Amino acid sequence: MRILVTGKNGQLGRSIQKIVNTDTKIGNNQSPNEYIFVGKEDLDLSSESSISHYFNNNKFDIIINCAAYTQVDRAEQEAELANQINHLAVKQLASIASNQRAKLLHISTDYVFDGESNKPYTETDTLNPINVYGRTKLAGEKALQALMPMNALIIRTSWVYSEYGNNFVSTMLRLGKERDELNIVSDQIGSPTYAADLAGVILEIIRHNKFRDVAQTTQIYNYSNEGEISWHEFAKEIFKLAEIDYKVNPIATKQYPTPAKRPRNTLMKKDKIITVFNIKISNWKSSLNTCMKILKEKQ
Ligand SMILES: NC(=O)c1ccc[n+]([C@@H]2O[C@H](COP(=O)([O-])OP(=O)(O)OC[C@H]3O[C@@H](n4cnc5c(N)ncnc54)[C@H](OP(=O)(O)O)[C@@H]3O)[C@@H](O)[C@H]2O)c1
Repeated sequence: MRILVTGKNGQLGRSIQKIVNTDTKIGNNQSPNEYIFVGKEDLDLSSESSISHYFNNNKFDIIINCAAYTQVDRAEQEAELANQINHLAVKQLASIASNQRAKLLHISTDYVFDGESNKPYTETDTLNPINVYGRTKLAGEKALQALMPMNALIIRTSWVYSEYGNNFVSTMLRLGKERDELNIVSDQIGSPTYAADLAGVILEIIRHNKFRDVAQTTQIYNYSNEGEISWHEFAKEIFKLAEIDYKVNPIATKQYPTPAKRPRNTLMKKDKIITVFNIKISNWKSSLNTCMKILKEKQ
């Protein structure tokens, strides 16, 4: 099996690489699978011709698309670029995967929902993104489903953080050094996702018959860590684990205006992925603890 992973420099791409490089069961020497990790420099999803050119010379059995335009606020100003990467490139990848008879595993977002529900979202709940990023990601989902009614899989995830790159955890730790106290919104509820946990689940799924067997209907699955928290509670736990005595004040979203609107509640039900793939999901606190230990070792 030749398995392509896009977004090799991103949080999820790097987390998949780490497992592939350290798990001897999956690693290249012992396994019949060959993993190829690519970044923007190898395969630029903002360019239709770069995508065509890359796949003219490369054929795969599985494509895992971790690359995306993820700058939620900047997307309001760069809607065309966000649409190219999150929608049109996904459409092109789906067409190529279909022609190559490759399976496609794509990552989407909780921001396809408007956040107005008072219950956790199921995979089939009403979709109504409230910002450009969410709209482009939804357009990508729909294009993929239209071109690949079979042999693809979409995972919707939320609040992704890791020991790599810029994310809420690294931002809190940086701001903690620069300021005396912080105001963090407490009226947006969701579940954090440790990228290493999601990476592990993706590698489990691609080994599973329900993904690998021919002619599987394309499905969408929700995935995050377990637990329901606000950004304020998330920040407090980060400082607690970092052993930084720091004042974190709860504020309302309206006190912290951002270019892109954020959904109020993006909790997602995960029964489907748990049942179909028989996976166990860690609580957000234990996964955050794991990530913080790795960050401390890096210091
Ligand atoms: N982060 C979150 O909180 C969150 C929440 C829900 C869903 N998701 C979804 O989860 C997936 C993984 O997210 P992540 O957190 O790993 O994102 P990330 O760290 O921002 O990584 C995204 C990767 O996409 C690459 N990329 C951007 N433009 C590209 C282009 N034109 N061509 C090729 N690659 C390009 C970036 O490359 P460079 O590093 O070179 O810029 C980056 O490595 C994405 O589909 C995202 O939409 C993320």
